[in-house]
Amino acid sequence: MGRKLTATRQSLLDDAYPKSQLPEKQITQEHDLAPASLFDYEPEKIVLEIGFGGGEHLTGLIHQYNDKGINAGFIGIEPFVNGMASFLVDIKEQNLEKYARVWMDDAIPVAKSFEENSIDEIYVLNPDPWHKTRHHRRRIINQDNLDIFSKILKPDGKLIMSTDVPYLAEWMVTEATTHPDFTWTATCADDWRVAPEDWIDTRYQTKKAKGADKMNYLFFTRNAT
Ligand SMILES: C[S@@+](CC[C@H](N)C(=O)[O-])C[C@H]1O[C@@H](n2cnc3c(N)ncnc32)[C@H](O)[C@@H]1O
Repeated sequence: MGRKLTATRQSLLDDAYPKSQLPEKQITQEHDLAPASLFDYEPEKIVLEIGFGGGEHLTGLIHQYNDKGINAGFIGIEPFVNGMASFLVDIKEQNLEKYARVWMDDAIPVAKSFEENSIDEIYVLNPDPWHKTRHHRRRIINQDNLDIFSKILKPDGKLIMSTDVPYLAEWMVTEATTHPDFTWTATCADDWRVAPEDWIDTRYQTKKAKGADKMNYLFFTRNAT
């Protein structure tokens, strides 16, 4: 998928991807893959980013957690080969490889394979808006996928979403607020209109999408019961 890679990126992908990729044979539909077991240390938290693009946000998060002294493990999923190559280059150059595990395909089968109550945070940032009505069912935030996210998130785990497309923001808020397992943490408009202090911009965030307006920051928690 995507443009042809340079020879250097291709060789890095050939070499680095197999070392960092999730174990293919454990990707089942059975909720039996323990994400903490993927790391050479015992992570206190597991952070999953779905559709990370070039991975700038995930790389930033690894630094942010390390700076805070939180020993977390990060899982990034992105089917776009150039995006995966960018992320692998960045984590190699910044010596962060041990903190990240990746998968270069659809996130949903992987999400289904994680053990229940095993993930602390799920980021879905600027997902594809699928503008046409007949394509709305392809939007990644929908009731079926929220069921999966609810299962794999720990009680009080976070689902963090963003978009600058107003009607996608409305869609995501409606889907998540109508789902029985999620609660929107916003108490005033600034909670979703203003970036939290420690927010890390994504590459996409700096571009304007079709129909784009202001960025919306949508924080939900997975209900404890
Ligand atoms: C608009 S881009 C945003 C990229 C990045 N999150 C950012 O904000 O810069 C949407 C990304 O989601 C990825 N994507 C779309 N469907 C996906 C899926 N089912 N599983 C994982 N990633 C997906 C695309 O490849 C693309 O990189």
